[in-house]
Amino acid sequence: MAQEDVFKKIVSHCKEYGFVFPSSDIYDGLGAVYDYGQNGVELKNNIKQYWWKSMVLLHENIVGIDAAIFMHPTTWKASGHVDAFNDPLIDNRDSKKRYRADVLIEDQIAKYEEKIDKEVAKARKRFKEQFDEAQYRATSPRVLELAAQRDALHERYSKAMNDGDLGELRQIILDEEIVCPISGTRNWTEVRQFNLMFSTEVGSTAEGASKIYLRPETAQGIFVNYLNVQKTGRMKLPFGIAQIGKAFRNEIVARQFIFRMREFEQMEMQYFVKPGTELEWFARWKETRMKWHQALGFGAENYRFHDHEKLAHYANAASDIEFHMPFGFKEVEGIHSRTNFDLSQHAKYSGKKIEYFDPETNESYTPYVIETSIGVDRMFLSVMCHSYEEEQLEGGETRVVLHLPAALAPVKLAVMPLVKKDGLPEKAEEIIRNLRFHFNCKYDEKDSIGKRYRRQDAIGTPFCVTVDHDTLKDNCVTLRYRDSMKQERVPIDSLQAIIEDQVSITSLLKKLL
Ligand code: GAP
Repeated sequence: MAQEDVFKKIVSHCKEYGFVFPSSDIYDGLGAVYDYGQNGVELKNNIKQYWWKSMVLLHENIVGIDAAIFMHPTTWKASGHVDAFNDPLIDNRDSKKRYRADVLIEDQIAKYEEKIDKEVAKARKRFKEQFDEAQYRATSPRVLELAAQRDALHERYSKAMNDGDLGELRQIILDEEIVCPISGTRNWTEVRQFNLMFSTEVGSTAEGASKIYLRPETAQGIFVNYLNVQKTGRMKLPFGIAQIGKAFRNEIVARQFIFRMREFEQMEMQYFVKPGTELEWFARWKETRMKWHQALGFGAENYRFHDHEKLAHYANAASDIEFHMPFGFKEVEGIHSRTNFDLSQHAKYSGKKIEYFDPETNESYTPYVIETSIGVDRMFLSVMCHSYEEEQLEGGETRVVLHLPAALAPVKLAVMPLVKKDGLPEKAEEIIRNLRFHFNCKYDEKDSIGKRYRRQDAIGTPFCVTVDHDTLKDNCVTLRYRDSMKQERVPIDSLQAIIEDQVSITSLLKKLL
């Protein structure tokens, strides 16, 4: 099945099984805004817990905060967002549709990549077992020609972006003969900059309302609280402040479901360090964060670092962790060495001294910052994409199963009476009554056992138990494992011990030490 079709199936699975709904669905949704359903919210909370505990529980020198979404408007002047948090936009005069110029060009670069992949696939079919992909890519004249075109375009595009040259971006779109996907024409306007922050007003108009912004990142809430936390927590460098919260960006090109949203959630941690040590900490945090991702067991081959060549003016190193989504390797997390830019800017704009007194050297300085910034929704999407499988079973049957890591699964155990009579429902409820304090359990008595298993597979429940007539005599149940579908008879008393360790967030955290 084409990856595009797999992705469509994942999106409809998310809706059908209560993971993700379009926002205000009864009004046909709102572009790039989504609601999490009864299973989605559990999965999302588990992801957040895994991150929060890995930061705050496992590091004695990292503490959390929860800053407000609304911040003093000067915050965004100081951080540079008012002046520079822009996307280059272009309109098609015929369709009246607006696009991000950079995305149109990046898509064009990806098309060269797709053409190369098609050439490779054709050659693989032709040469069968003797096919040496690396050699083919290095020697095929057609592949080399396409790669040269791709690289030349990439270089021209990067330069235009670095120089902020909007005229050149438009020229690239014209030269590459990029057409509007709706009208099919090349009738493009000039490229203009568009600020991504949403604004609103605080106070009534009569009082003289003032313009404020919905935060486009959670990080600034941490920077403006640096002094509060350092002083009240008596924190010594290096130390970190972690936060999970909503962020808002007026994304014009909203694509790929929850990958690019207008309202989303971030998990960010700013690690304050002594100037001069930042690159060492940057390398350590890259490693730590990659380990966090890989502990989920999705396979190291599905992750890669993308080190930035072009750095923001305030950064001296930056790297993304990319995950292999059905639509290619995409950024899930950014790790940035932000120097002392943000703290210095806030010191300048607020007139407050934002420094650290180092008792070891008896000097005061502005700390440098390493930031780890991950989108909850992108993480959620990567988990769903990797877990979804349409599995072919013996006998030609298919089952849709979510191989979620047990610690992230919304429901850990489903308890099912074989029939709705003879005291079996009561026994099943008794089991749930005893286990519900330890992990999320669900009772299910509708339909055949086979159908009930399939329903639980579809939401990723790692364990099911069936209560039958023998249970009333021997106090044992049939325990069924989601991935292997193996079943075994176990005493009810042993259920907690078998399941609890495997489904707890602690089981994941232990892999990080
Ligand atoms: N404080 C740094 C910062 O915000 P960023 O690269 O703009 O950096 C960090 O965002 C992470 O937030 C991204 O790696 C991504 O996971 C997530 N993110 C950013 N924009 C998003 C959007 N429109 N929708 C969903 N997630 C987004």
